[in-house]
Amino acid sequence: MTDSVLVVPGDGVGREVVPAAVDVLDAVADLEFHHAEAGDRVERETGEALPEETRRRAIDADATLFGAAGETAADVVLPLREAVGSVANVRPARAYPGVDALRPQTDLVVIRENTEGVYSGIEAEVADGVTTLTRVVTAEASRRVAEYGFEYAAEHGYDQVTVAHKANVMRTTDGQFLDAVEAVATDRDADYETTLVDALATDLLLRPAAYGVVICPNLAGDVLSDLAAGLVGGLGLTPSANVGPDNGLFEPVHGSAPDIAGEGVANPAATILSGAMLLEHLGHDESATDVRAAVEAVLADGPRTPDLGGDASTEAVSDAVIERL
Ligand code: NAI
Ligand code: MG
Repeated sequence: MTDSVLVVPGDGVGREVVPAAVDVLDAVADLEFHHAEAGDRVERETGEALPEETRRRAIDADATLFGAAGETAADVVLPLREAVGSVANVRPARAYPGVDALRPQTDLVVIRENTEGVYSGIEAEVADGVTTLTRVVTAEASRRVAEYGFEYAAEHGYDQVTVAHKANVMRTTDGQFLDAVEAVATDRDADYETTLVDALATDLLLRPAAYGVVICPNLAGDVLSDLAAGLVGGLGLTPSANVGPDNGLFEPVHGSAPDIAGEGVANPAATILSGAMLLEHLGHDESATDVRAAVEAVLADGPRTPDLGGDASTEAVSDAVIERL
């Protein structure tokens, strides 16, 4: 049966880079596209940033390709990730030939738990001037992200698995996280190292080539993946996937970029590469490889958008990718 993909462009440059990525996907795979709205625009029209109709269709689809939302991002992305049953947020950071990267040796993938931790939303003001936050870490969510991380490393040929934590301070919660990782690694007979997350931030910058797959709790993964994006040439290039057992949400790491929205010059590479992750998730491995190779070739030879020093439009870049395909 043809896989169904829900397309949610959202706001700002999402409305430019998502159609460009859909054109690329359409050129390589037999997919059935459906469209839905989310974000600031639809909130202004309907009062809801994530209409129930969009949420339900994301659950029903085989995968969702999302652009970005503006100010309503948290009201859209968090519930959408939950709707697709996401157990892991996968954020590759790879330097591409021809792109001026801070650390050209970088090829790493941050795999982040993205359902709990300090993003569980349990905050309170317990007294005037005193606020609290409850950090939830469950054995189940920790096990799932560890399993996903080790499986990803094995499937994608990464020898090095690093687990970031701060169990020296957060003994109970990160202790639980590390216990879950240890159990999964023992089961799989897999090797890994553990590193304190603050020390890892320095070492990623100094020696990125020493790392492959980095498995982390929620907040640590959010911060480290943005750091990794900085090593490889910025937000126009970094894709992401939120994967569940039988569903997924694929989106560029960047937001709606209001400073350049409407000009037709946003870099579509991050969204096209998110589309490659979507293809892989649906089992179209060969098409995914072809899309990555075509993006790499265009990044190396141009045309390039202004964020990479060129003067090409979004469409000129996606057309060049399609031509390579
Ligand atoms: P941003 O990622 O939208 O932009 C940061 C910088 O990167 C800007 O200078 C922008 O021009 C540039 N940039 C981003 N994407 C680009 C692309 N494809 N090509 C070339 N340059 C690109 O982050 P910012 O400015 O912090 O947030 C803007 C809005 O986006 C806010 O309303 C924020 O809430 C929302 N946002 C939404 C996210 C989501 O929907 N997942 C994630 C991050 C921010
Ligand atoms: Mg972030």
